Amino acid sequence: MAESRMLPGTDESYWMDTTSATAYPALTADLADVDVVVVGGGIAGLCTAWELTEAGRTVALVEADRIAAGVTGYTTAKLSVLHTLIYDKVRTSSGPDAARLYAESQRLAVRRVAELTARLGIDCDLERVPAFTYAESPDGLDRIRAEADAAAEAGLAASFVTETGLPFPVAGAVRVEDQAQFHPRKYLLALAEDLTRRGGRIFERTRATGLDEGDPCTVTTEGGHTITARQVVVATHYPVFDRALLFARLEPRRELVVAAAIPADRDPGGVYLTTEQNTRSVRTAPYRDGQRLLIVTGEHFTPGTSDVTGHWRKLAEWTGQRFPGAQIAYRWATQDNTTTDQVPFIGRFHPGTDRVYVATGFGGWGMSTGVLTGQLLAACLTGAEPPWAGLYDPRRLHPAREAGSMLKLQAKVAGHFVGDRVRPSRVDSVEDIAPGTGAVVRVRGRQCAAYRDDTGRIHAVSARCTHLGCIVHFNDAETAWECPCHGSRFGIDGAVVQGPANKPLEPRDLA
Ligand SMILES: Cc1cc2nc3c(=O)[nH]c(=O)nc-3n(C[C@H](O)[C@H](O)[C@H](O)COP(=O)(O)OP(=O)(O)OC[C@H]3O[C@@H](n4cnc5c(N)ncnc54)[C@H](O)[C@@H]3O)c2cc1C
Ligand code: FES
Repeated sequence: MAESRMLPGTDESYWMDTTSATAYPALTADLADVDVVVVGGGIAGLCTAWELTEAGRTVALVEADRIAAGVTGYTTAKLSVLHTLIYDKVRTSSGPDAARLYAESQRLAVRRVAELTARLGIDCDLERVPAFTYAESPDGLDRIRAEADAAAEAGLAASFVTETGLPFPVAGAVRVEDQAQFHPRKYLLALAEDLTRRGGRIFERTRATGLDEGDPCTVTTEGGHTITARQVVVATHYPVFDRALLFARLEPRRELVVAAAIPADRDPGGVYLTTEQNTRSVRTAPYRDGQRLLIVTGEHFTPGTSDVTGHWRKLAEWTGQRFPGAQIAYRWATQDNTTTDQVPFIGRFHPGTDRVYVATGFGGWGMSTGVLTGQLLAACLTGAEPPWAGLYDPRRLHPAREAGSMLKLQAKVAGHFVGDRVRPSRVDSVEDIAPGTGAVVRVRGRQCAAYRDDTGRIHAVSARCTHLGCIVHFNDAETAWECPCHGSRFGIDGAVVQGPANKPLEPRDLA
């Protein structure tokens, strides 16, 4: 039996498990003359579609699979302006005014969720809590103190503290008051219903495969239908239709989550994050029988490059040690991407356009930033750009500041592109692949991604990622093919699970 099957907890996200599946129709005919097509139904796409409808625009949202079931369905949903150590980074790289704009824009996004929850009567377990970035080791204290100072200078209610509510000592932490946590799917599914009540259209199982940036723009779908619109928003996480080559300035990072019931009186009472120990993040949510569900995230890695089962074990062990008695009920995983200057890309997709917009690079903070995307893009598309539009503008490029991280990223991608073509396979032939596992094998000179199911049947597809041709790797714990270059993910049948790839891996007949 594959070792990953012996991991504790149900292999499902708590957010997915506690909400009904959606069933919006697929697009089955051409659609003309909408104001805006939004491509992608995660938090960024749904919030943008809702805000545009609120602003009086006609909107059609197309989602390749089901809404709020991509990264957003597998997040941890801390809704906070405290994004690890961002304020000191932005202050250092772009000055205190930029840090202030970041804080103000994120603060308005957190406030927007509270406003809409009250106005639309959405029950999404929204709870106000303080947020902490902490360090256990005294070595990390300088960075924590600098962040507390930068966040306070940016206008946040931030302070340096040594008490956090966590059941273990810390050397120090930044504390920001009045942040939040919520159930992201309860919030977004309610927003989607409200959107359709107001005349917005949602099409699920409708993958956008083409974009003509004419006037009007035309979005073509996998089913061969078209939607014409004055403007288009690409909110597909890693962007598709990436004519600006933003993928070269984005780094994917996959992370694991475990969730365990704990007694309510052991709830630490805040949302927490440390960059130590390969990152640990902690929050809780309401759970059955008056208990709390402790949600712990960490063990990040580049997709396709790690022993994922080993990472799960480490995260489960840490949870058991730090919260004795916590019984793991759920485990899930997902990934986000980070820009080379760590500020998200939200705005016009490339220098030549005022019709096509993008939102990506949320760096693990897409709850507030997804909401902010809706507010920012609705304002930009209706001609009222807020003062922070420039901060998030994807067309910015600061070679002096970004060159180092861009070169590092490209070297890593080049290493995979070349190295993975010549690296010997971990098995000699297809016959050596055990049931429940997969491997890349060379068959008749071509690299094939082969998976053997429990009945012994081999499922084989091309190992060349359909994004830019890197070689995919098998993730044993999640039974998926993953590309280490920009994080595309595919099922064992080759279907796209996550972009930037937008086409399946080609089938291979190994007979
Ligand atoms: C482990 C982990 C924990 C996290 N925890 C937090 C947290 O506590 N707080 C926080 O603020 N952030 C958190 N984040 C980050 C946050 O979850 C993400 O930034 C956010 O969910 C991304 O939303 P999105 O709308 O951009 O992407 P998605 O939710 O992935 O939505 C994109 C959608 O586009 C669709 N799509 C793709 N291609 C096409 C196409 N061609 N046509 C049509 N549709 C398409 C996809 O199917 C998908 O549904 C976390 C991230 C990780 C990895
Ligand atoms: S994701 Fe870019 S080459 Fe695979």
